[in-house]
Amino acid sequence: MITAIFPAAGQGKRMGMKVNKIFLSLGGKTVLYHTLYTFSKCEMIDELVVVASPEEVTVVRELLKTMDGLKPWQVVAGGLERQYSIENALEVVSPGTKIILVHDAARPIISTKIIEKVIEETRHHGATITAVRAKDTIKVVDEKGIVIDTPQRNGLWAVQTPQGFQADVLKDAYQKAKEDDFLGTDDASLVERMGRKVKVVEGDYTNIKITTPEDLIMAESFIKRRSNQ
Ligand code: CTP
Ligand code: MG
Repeated sequence: MITAIFPAAGQGKRMGMKVNKIFLSLGGKTVLYHTLYTFSKCEMIDELVVVASPEEVTVVRELLKTMDGLKPWQVVAGGLERQYSIENALEVVSPGTKIILVHDAARPIISTKIIEKVIEETRHHGATITAVRAKDTIKVVDEKGIVIDTPQRNGLWAVQTPQGFQADVLKDAYQKAKEDDFLGTDDASLVERMGRKVKVVEGDYTNIKITTPEDLIMAESFIKRRSNQ
């Protein structure tokens, strides 16, 4: 059994709009709709767990009830950090789940092809991330704005979601992070610190996270292109 968890409990501060970005419209549907719909099209996915902020649990539930064609779903309340949101979701995942995928609700351009690739690699490796090769040179800069290092671009990857894990591997990593008060910026980092190898699946540059207003313009054109294909 495979469960997909969707953190959607952020505030979307960098979008600078009054409303959480997952409710913004993209080609006439919400960002959240696009994300959940693509996962629901994947035969291998059995259930969806959407994490909403406590104030938005009810509105997200009502919204999901209006969506046709979704896999069985539940909505749970999130926490103040993404990591705490996932922690809450892990508590309601069905006991029979062997593989858990975590995907940002704010990445609506995800394709079924990448989801399937992540599932396949997770079956082999136990822990998988989606990532793309860094296009820009990345510098390490100190707090005074002075460059301290320029890492070789060859080995640099920009990390996306979905990230896929054997259920017990992810649950153990979250448990340990909690015990150690460790706060990571993605799910895989919690697994890496347990000494587990994480496999990289080469993703797609279109799988952007809606973060700032210009991302919405790009996403709009990707959605349009997809519906023309
Ligand atoms: N997220 C979450 N719980 C949090 C923070 C974030 O579930 N406490 C979710 C967001 O809803 C989003 C994903 O994690 O789908 C990626 O986070 P990010 O892009 O940072 O979204 P926000 O935190 O909403 O945006 P910002 O940081 O600009 O406020
Ligand atoms: Mg955030």
